[in-house]
Amino acid sequence: MLDANPEGYTTADGRKIGGVLMEMRNITLRFGGVKAITDISFDIREGEIRAIIGPNGAGKSSMLNVISGFYVPQEGEVWFHGQRRAPMKPYEVARQGIARTFQNIALFDGMSVLDNIMTGRLTMMKTGLFSQALWWGRAQAEETEHREKVERIIDFLEIQSIRKTPVGRLPYGLKKRVELARALAAEPKLLLLDEPMAGMNVEEKEDMSRFILDVNDEFGTTIALIEHDMGVVMDLSDRVVVMDYGKKIGDGTPDEVRANQAVIDAYLGVAHD
Ligand SMILES: Nc1ncnc2c1ncn2[C@@H]1O[C@H](COP(=O)(O)OP(=O)(O)OP(=O)(O)O)[C@@H](O)[C@H]1O
Ligand SMILES: [Mg+2]
Repeated sequence: MLDANPEGYTTADGRKIGGVLMEMRNITLRFGGVKAITDISFDIREGEIRAIIGPNGAGKSSMLNVISGFYVPQEGEVWFHGQRRAPMKPYEVARQGIARTFQNIALFDGMSVLDNIMTGRLTMMKTGLFSQALWWGRAQAEETEHREKVERIIDFLEIQSIRKTPVGRLPYGLKKRVELARALAAEPKLLLLDEPMAGMNVEEKEDMSRFILDVNDEFGTTIALIEHDMGVVMDLSDRVVVMDYGKKIGDGTPDEVRANQAVIDAYLGVAHD
């Protein structure tokens, strides 16, 4: 289906998926003697919700870290917007329009929800501290614009009531939502979510699922997510990459992956806490 439609396709529920946005070609990543990723290739299409699944230690987070520029693979190529990406620092990747959340929440506990979300816009701020001192008028205008964008995200994720609360005081599920807000504040083209629903109860998972779908729908954001809850993965994603011991063992629509015997053996049959 995909090969026959290089410019994209329409999903069963009527969402338009475009051409290839990101392509991983033959990626291999080693940590000393440990091969975290072995010769993996896959692509992510514009507007798509793409899942990466697999048992613990399969190499999923490592793959997200390659996409976000945190790790540079020993072998393989990363292509973004039809161009091969030179090895670059995570902040440079962020400037290209890729934002992420972390498997272990990475927020500033002592800072308010609002200020945490503002840090998501740092890569976009034109005026540095020095020029802010000299040109405070322009810096103020910029600050106002940033605040307006952030307020829109706060409304969108329904966290108005906690905007002044220090993040450290929030329950886990809301922290995850604030982390999503911070990533969205960077207005990413591609959003990477590493287990956005881990540790959540059913209701919190439903909320997060809805927000992920809404982000994709409202902002047209392409999303790559790692998730262990198979129900969530199958509901949310357009296509799924399956990893096991650093290798790709499956890639396709949720139905295709569900029917793949290698996947059933490696993952679906194995209990996961
Ligand atoms: N910084 C690192 N240094 C050394 N080894 C690492 C490092 N990061 C990951 N690994 C190893 O690489 C392999 C893949 O780890 P990774 O965290 O990518 O797996 P994962 O699929 O995200 O697992 P989980 O579901 O538990 O989060 C594991 O064997 C892990 O121990
Ligand atoms: Mg992980």
